[in-house]
Amino acid sequence: MANIKVKIDHVSKIFGSKPKSVIPQVKSGKSKAEILEETGHTVGVYDASMEIEEGEIFVIMGLSGSGKSTLIRCFNLLNKPTDGSIYVDGENIIEYNSSQLKKFRQNKIAMVFQHFGLFDHRTVLENIEYGLEIKNVSKEKRQQIARENLEVVGLKGYEDKYPDELSGGMQQRVGLARALANDPDILLMDEPFSALDPLIRREMQLELLDIQERLKKTIIFITHDVNEAFKLGDRVAVMKDGKVVQIGTPETILESPANDYISDFIKDIDRSKILQAENVMIKPNALVSLKDGLKVAIKEMEENGISSVFVVDRSRSLQGIVTIDDAIEGIKEKKSLEDVLSTDVTTVTKEEYVNDIIPKALESKYPLAVTSGNGRLEGFILRVHVLSGLVAEDVNESTEYHG
Ligand SMILES: Nc1ncnc2c1ncn2[C@@H]1O[C@H](COP(=O)(O)OP(=O)(O)O)[C@@H](O)[C@H]1O
Ligand SMILES: [Mg+2]
Repeated sequence: MANIKVKIDHVSKIFGSKPKSVIPQVKSGKSKAEILEETGHTVGVYDASMEIEEGEIFVIMGLSGSGKSTLIRCFNLLNKPTDGSIYVDGENIIEYNSSQLKKFRQNKIAMVFQHFGLFDHRTVLENIEYGLEIKNVSKEKRQQIARENLEVVGLKGYEDKYPDELSGGMQQRVGLARALANDPDILLMDEPFSALDPLIRREMQLELLDIQERLKKTIIFITHDVNEAFKLGDRVAVMKDGKVVQIGTPETILESPANDYISDFIKDIDRSKILQAENVMIKPNALVSLKDGLKVAIKEMEENGISSVFVVDRSRSLQGIVTIDDAIEGIKEKKSLEDVLSTDVTTVTKEEYVNDIIPKALESKYPLAVTSGNGRLEGFILRVHVLSGLVAEDVNESTEYHG
């Protein structure tokens, strides 16, 4: 079980003159619109709970106004929750005094903003140094750290430029380098790529995944774009009207969206780019080993109503496939299983995306074998499933709510 880095525990944030007084009314089931109408208070976030694991990219997704920014600003107490607790490494940060909070913000958590938030009158390097400067790190040391982080985001050589000499994508790289310079455990990113052109945006997404691969931070990433959410998120929380309506991996959300709001969100997504072989494979009921021989192979196929069966060795490593026709033919001609075995099986790894499997399915005669890293046969994928797009439409009509 992974370490829980941040635990958001029944957090609410109400805006208005007497925020706490409104909580019972929200609790009684009144809608955000009713609360506003009757009390003049805005429900920013209501009763949000989530646990964020160390080292994961946790995405918070929702339409504009659903409370994403309000919630993420609670993580570093830029917003003080009206109700609830926030634990980071087991400590309730809401109870921090001002010097503890200052330390927390300087060392443990950093934020990247949608509109970059760079200082125009400072050079790129000076922007990245900023957080270290307020921690009184020596000039030499902070320049060194700033240079290192500039390199991490791929902007070496731009040290002395000013923000307005850079493109949006480059400015956001500086924003990221500035956040990384403090070496925080937790990175908060509030729609960091939303202001960028689609092409640059995709580049930045890949870059972020790449950086995360190396740095293994705990990243809380906000977006209103479902494709971005599912590309980046290890897990995704979906928000609507200040409430968290579902939390899950991209696969589980795709497979069983908790309600129509989420179904609507995901209907435009290209599933073949999200689902991996292991999400669509079938676990084999029948397997035979070489020493079992042809008769056993035929019996297995008959009993399971299948026309071919995979052959494995003792450690379940794939040896090939035998079809019912070849097996019957083999018996007649007194051949062994090994003789009639076809080794012309297309294998894919568990991690391959369905999108990348399609061309392989087109060329393969047999079901595709899905193997894990060590060559162990984990499952198989029927060509017809991939080619007909069946795997892409298998959406379950669950109406269950999460959280
Ligand atoms: N400082 C504030 N004062 C009053 N209402 C606010 C404030 N900040 C956000 N809100 C309201 O809270 C709700 C959630 O806003 P926000 O968190 O910015 O949504 P998102 O980031 O998902 O677009 C909105 O109705 C918004 O108008
Ligand atoms: Mg926002």
